[in-house]
Amino acid sequence: MSNDTDHRSVTCQASPNIALIKYWGKRDDELIIPDNDSLSITLDLNDMHSYTTVSTSSSMTSDTFYFEGIQQTKLSRRMEKVLNEVRRRAKDSEMKFVEIRSHNTFPASSGLASSASAYASLAIALTNLFHLDDPQSTAAYLARIGSGSAVRSVYGGFVRWSSQGECLSSCIYPAEHWPELRLIVLIFNSSKKAVSSTDAMQRTRETSTLFQARLSTINDKIDKLIEAIKNKDFNTFAKIVMMDSSQFHAVCMDTYPPVIYLNEQSKHLIDLVHAYNKADGNETMKVAYTFDAGPNPFCFIREEHVEEFLGLLQYFYPTTNDNVRKQPMANTVEKFPSINLAIMPNVLEGIVSTKIGSGPKIIS
Ligand code: DP6
Repeated sequence: MSNDTDHRSVTCQASPNIALIKYWGKRDDELIIPDNDSLSITLDLNDMHSYTTVSTSSSMTSDTFYFEGIQQTKLSRRMEKVLNEVRRRAKDSEMKFVEIRSHNTFPASSGLASSASAYASLAIALTNLFHLDDPQSTAAYLARIGSGSAVRSVYGGFVRWSSQGECLSSCIYPAEHWPELRLIVLIFNSSKKAVSSTDAMQRTRETSTLFQARLSTINDKIDKLIEAIKNKDFNTFAKIVMMDSSQFHAVCMDTYPPVIYLNEQSKHLIDLVHAYNKADGNETMKVAYTFDAGPNPFCFIREEHVEEFLGLLQYFYPTTNDNVRKQPMANTVEKFPSINLAIMPNVLEGIVSTKIGSGPKIIS
């Protein structure tokens, strides 16, 4: 802590978001203007968030960044870009230098991308610290130029990121709209992805022909998904979300050289979800999966089916790993004789169970 009389600081918490309709491809790499609209849900702050404090005082002589308490030797290019934009907007050259301290309440190995929550919390803290005009839009803009998907973590609930006009985000339904919706994240592999989203989407743009076909169907898909969310129609919601995930991975496969994020366990989970949804004979959707740029599934499920599904997961992915919370089995499997899949021992590194959240919070 500095003793300066003009020392000021703001802290912000923001959580990650999961895309229901994926963002993939940018028309402008510098400003991060997306090729398509995307839709996401922001997760509950109580379960996981990035916690970022930004301070300033006239005695600071450079920008500094501490991540998880450790001073980083250099700020990333994207972080520099965000700070330069704040300097440009701050009145009376009020902003000289800042100290940024950021940490995540969830491990990098949780399968959740932390860049969205990190840049959203940084953007909101900076906007508040320097009293920038039009704070919501400014924070969204700053988050976006840090990492595209971060623009969606600036709001809670169901969020749309527009690829038109200002290319900012907005909340289309608050978290309270569908409180029964839950999210279960399965960690099959916690190691860093081989090809970053940034590089892979660039490669897709240059080489994939399926990519254009995807872009031409996205707005229609988003309209239908918004209608399903409005009506809390889980059947339609589940189908659209799963199909968009598969289409996104098909586009990655159509990229040259191909980018393959899914693995054998991802495919097993896909089969398990479809077998479970079909098991009672009338194809009533109970679970939907989506996969980002990695093999770990994000499963959407209504509260009433959570226990049953966790029982199935425990049966099909038995593990000695202590990170996986043991659930009472509740004879789940006996109820589903039609699910005829192999058991995959010791593939599950962890399970995170969470729900929709109402967005970032400013602490000080
Ligand atoms: C597959 O936001 O990480 O998760 O804008 O280059 O930082 P940059 O990419 P990033 O890409 C996220 C891609 C995705 C889909 C999504 O979140 O919409």
